[in-house]
Amino acid sequence: MNLDRDALNLRLWAICLVLSLLIPTCALAQTVMVGDVEIDPRDFAPDQDPETRLAPCLACHGAQAGGDIDFGPEVQFGTPALRGMAHDYLKESLIDYQAGRRSHEEMTVIASMLEVETIDFMARSFAAYPAPPLKSAEALARLADEDPRFRKGQAIALEGLPDEGVPACATCHGDLGEGNAELGPRLAGQNGLYIRRQFTAYADGTRQTAQAEIMQPVAAELSQEDIAAVAHYYEQLIQVGDPKAAPPSGDLDRTGDE
Ligand code: HEC
Ligand code: HEC
Repeated sequence: MNLDRDALNLRLWAICLVLSLLIPTCALAQTVMVGDVEIDPRDFAPDQDPETRLAPCLACHGAQAGGDIDFGPEVQFGTPALRGMAHDYLKESLIDYQAGRRSHEEMTVIASMLEVETIDFMARSFAAYPAPPLKSAEALARLADEDPRFRKGQAIALEGLPDEGVPACATCHGDLGEGNAELGPRLAGQNGLYIRRQFTAYADGTRQTAQAEIMQPVAAELSQEDIAAVAHYYEQLIQVGDPKAAPPSGDLDRTGDE
């Protein structure tokens, strides 16, 4: 009897596995493979607890929402950090993926699973993760001394390229890329590969967000070398330590976590 049931379970499992390979949403499992991550859209629902709702996002965006940085120096997927970004910016980004004003093979699929309330919950939660501390003034001065690419990126960030008519990034993104809710999103500690990809998206017009027109002329004027330098500069601004050292705060009740 038990043996029969085991055999039946095994057969059902095998059928489901085959189906899920053929059709991404196997009716029995109701999960979707997005990149390497298996996602059950029901986990995002408002009746789930916050940990369950956030877990699929953190699987890619890192345990402390620091993007690739949370997984160590070898990981280079170009997944952005979300911690400490402005609530409105995060919310707008998710709506932009849904509406096709931004497109990405993984995020477009994920955003399409989120209801209005869930988008707001996600934006609030990720804005509440604390931004990591910046490197000390001495450490930054040493980097500028020793690393020519950092030095070049720093010059573009702080002074722009006056000859090409490129304004200083700092005017809108904050003196050290800490972001400005009105003028431009946080860049300090952002993933360098991700920054480079956004420049491509602005330059080729695939990022058609409400404020893309501000970044499109900037992207058009910078060479690949300039972009690599400024992306390296912003990525390097933060202290990289133990990612577990900064537990999330804000309106998430995470007592007992970790
Ligand atoms: C399979 C991996 C993966 C999962 C799961 C995932 N993301 Fe992403 N996310 C990415 C990548 C990669 C990008 C960069 C996309 C691009 O280049 O436009 C991104 C971009 C974003 C951005 C834009 C950031 C910015 O600076 O503009 C937001 C916001 C975001 N994700 C939120 C979420 C939320 C919320 C969830 C869960 C509901 C989630 N992501 C799940 C991989 C993932
Ligand atoms: C006049 C203000 C302004 C200046 C100058 C400016 N930016 Fe921006 N930047 C913005 C705004 C606004 C956005 C958000 C646009 C959107 O919603 O797509 C943005 C978006 C970005 C993004 C995408 C962020 C993300 O999380 O997806 C990157 C990367 C970026 N800027 C880098 C730079 C760099 C590097 C410079 C200097 C070479 C620069 N910006 C100069 C206003 C500015």
